[in-house]
Amino acid sequence: MDQQVLEHYSKAGVEEGPLNDFLSSTSVPSFRYVRLNPRMNTNETLASLPKPSPVPWLPSSTNFYAIPNRTINTLDPYVDGSLYGMDCSSGAAVAALRLETVNKPVRVLDLCCCPCAKLCMIVDSLEHLSGCEVVGVDISGNRLNVGKKIARKYLKGAACEVRLYQADGTTFPGPADDISASPSLVFDSRAEAQETNQGERKKMNKSAKSRETKRLAELMSSSPPSPDDKFDFVLIDAECSTDGALNQVKHKIKAGKETATDSIREKLMDEESLTSLQLKLLTNGFANLKDGGSLVYSTCSLSENQNENVVRKFLSSRPDANVASVDFSSSSPPPSIPGSLPGTLRFQPTLGPTQDSKSFSGSGFFLCKISKRRQGEEADNDDDGG
Ligand SMILES: C[S@@+](CC[C@H](N)C(=O)[O-])C[C@H]1O[C@@H](n2cnc3c(N)ncnc32)[C@H](O)[C@@H]1O
Repeated sequence: MDQQVLEHYSKAGVEEGPLNDFLSSTSVPSFRYVRLNPRMNTNETLASLPKPSPVPWLPSSTNFYAIPNRTINTLDPYVDGSLYGMDCSSGAAVAALRLETVNKPVRVLDLCCCPCAKLCMIVDSLEHLSGCEVVGVDISGNRLNVGKKIARKYLKGAACEVRLYQADGTTFPGPADDISASPSLVFDSRAEAQETNQGERKKMNKSAKSRETKRLAELMSSSPPSPDDKFDFVLIDAECSTDGALNQVKHKIKAGKETATDSIREKLMDEESLTSLQLKLLTNGFANLKDGGSLVYSTCSLSENQNENVVRKFLSSRPDANVASVDFSSSSPPPSIPGSLPGTLRFQPTLGPTQDSKSFSGSGFFLCKISKRRQGEEADNDDDGG
């Protein structure tokens, strides 16, 4: 592996010996994580799974289970949208928002949403309430095409209204008076419902496509996103160097991809532009947050520069921001370690074989919950970040 990448891992506490052993070993984790779709028959889904075991540190309402490791793409509940494949450390970013405890309609913004795994979990966590709105934003048209497919597969009949925009998360929703800088609406659950009412969506023909374009344009002009419409919750699952996803690196190496860590190396070589993007995303996410609201900043990198240091820089310019403690209100503590900034959580990738479903075999992940002080409220940060 490239020397720079090795040094990076070593700095993040992942030593060369165990890392090489992990990447070269043929053994795979003995289990993997799945999540149930609450709009489907969860008892039936559960009964169809081999030895499902609830993830004890996440609220049961998140419907996360560990199952013996296997490919899930061919399982009926996966094919029909009853089952998601999702890493539990990713799930922690959404669970930290505690949306299942919300008891009045809220608006949630997911600023880097594609391919929409966490956005679906946000929607699922609000299934107990009607009148909620979930807005997803991503800059990549290709990734939004995948995100739309996932939303269509899983979110049919959801209690929330869902919109996906192609836009730059560092400026979304942009100035209200500049139409040329407007986000472009690419998915709206109300438009979807109308289309589905016109017959099952199969392969979209030309007239269905133009109907969809027309509906989206109408919705966009009747209710464009406005900088005045703030959000109660914001998730910023930022673009990062993805070095925490060691199971994926191993998978690529096994598939014979010599270049398995090339993209990590390239991103680390230009880490400064990455951290500058992350800071802008966090700053704009916070600008979109209501006073009293909560935000989660997360990455699947182990780099302190992309994690704690981004948050530190951000806090130094926002006296109205507090690092909030993360409490999953579960029977067991999360398998995380504290980050170097108090209140932040790190899920360190496990390099040894993890034998039972209570241990953690997820990806490396960082998360920080930040709350926005209401005007007149006292600061209560006890961290070193400002
Ligand atoms: C880590 S992925 C998000 C994964 C997603 N939250 C999920 O759980 O499925 C980061 C995403 O950020 C998007 N992105 C990168 N720069 C962006 C920007 N300036 N504005 C909005 N999205 C951006 C990328 O296209 C990518 O889809």
